[in-house]
Amino acid sequence: MSRPSRPAPSSRRLVALNGPAAVPGTVWLVGAGPGDPDLLTVKAARILGGADVVVHDGLVSDAILAMAPSQARLINVAKRKSRHTLPQNDINQLLVALALQGLTVVRLKGGDPFIFGRGGEEMAACRAAAVDCRIVPGVTAALAASASAGAPLTHRGAAQAVTFVTGHAAHGEPDLDWPALARANQTVVIYMGLTTAAVIADRLIGAGRDRVTPALVVVNASREDEQRIPTTLGDLASAVEGLSGPALLMVGEAMALATARILPRDFVPGEGDHAVVEGAAPALNAIARSFGGSVHDLPDRATTPPPPRFARSPSPVAARQGRIS
Ligand SMILES: C[S@@+](CC[C@H](N)C(=O)[O-])C[C@H]1O[C@@H](n2cnc3c(N)ncnc32)[C@H](O)[C@@H]1O
Repeated sequence: MSRPSRPAPSSRRLVALNGPAAVPGTVWLVGAGPGDPDLLTVKAARILGGADVVVHDGLVSDAILAMAPSQARLINVAKRKSRHTLPQNDINQLLVALALQGLTVVRLKGGDPFIFGRGGEEMAACRAAAVDCRIVPGVTAALAASASAGAPLTHRGAAQAVTFVTGHAAHGEPDLDWPALARANQTVVIYMGLTTAAVIADRLIGAGRDRVTPALVVVNASREDEQRIPTTLGDLASAVEGLSGPALLMVGEAMALATARILPRDFVPGEGDHAVVEGAAPALNAIARSFGGSVHDLPDRATTPPPPRFARSPSPVAARQGRIS
């Protein structure tokens, strides 16, 4: 049986998966970073610029997708909590099938592919099919959130360790080592913890973490609509009320250094000037001063609630996107 040769460039390059090419392509698992295109690595931009097809998840911004060649096909396999556009196994098989067509496949994932990104499973599927798979690391959300808040993840005298955990609960509540996470002088960063914030705070306090331990909630880190809400472990559950969007919960003494960023209710990214309130949390003034942090007054959160979800205007990227269902 003759095998199809590598397809010529065209805007509909990914059409038929009807047999392997003579020379399989490569799957690149590329970290797209937390959202700000400036935080994409130079290598990620270079690899993206050579893609035949880009398989991306929902946390990758349009500005980054626009760096793909104009003829490259964009496939959105976005996952949302409780709604997987494509099951993970199907994504794995899709990557393999595309590579076997001889295509250069860029699997573009938010943050870093190996931090709560299921990149390991995709790599394993490629290895099992003898498809070349390479990894390009990305800036994980915790690094961006820490940097923009000015709250170091490790800090001499306040945080000798940092631990990344998932707050996702497959069976009712996260299955975590609470006594280990409750030790003082460390930062615990919780990914995917918005809906389980109350139980996480309860478990940490129950395991011995002081309820006045500084905490920080960061939504949409590095994006124009980033919000940072300094709080304490005891107040974590109320701090996340009404929040939506990708968010991190960060708990630890060094979070006392965090500056707040609270958006007005009518905030729409890219539309005119908005009064974004920035500053340190009044409740944490004393702790922040002890670290040498700057202190500003914050308005009451009740007067500046988080913004509603906003509709983004259609972009040129949207027109190129194909979803697989
Ligand atoms: C499936 S995990 C992917 C993490 C990603 N691989 C990384 O390294 O950042 C998705 C979770 O990452 C966190 N996240 C991703 N991007 C974020 C951002 N820009 N701001 C805040 N949290 C973010 C949220 O907790 C979100 O629910």
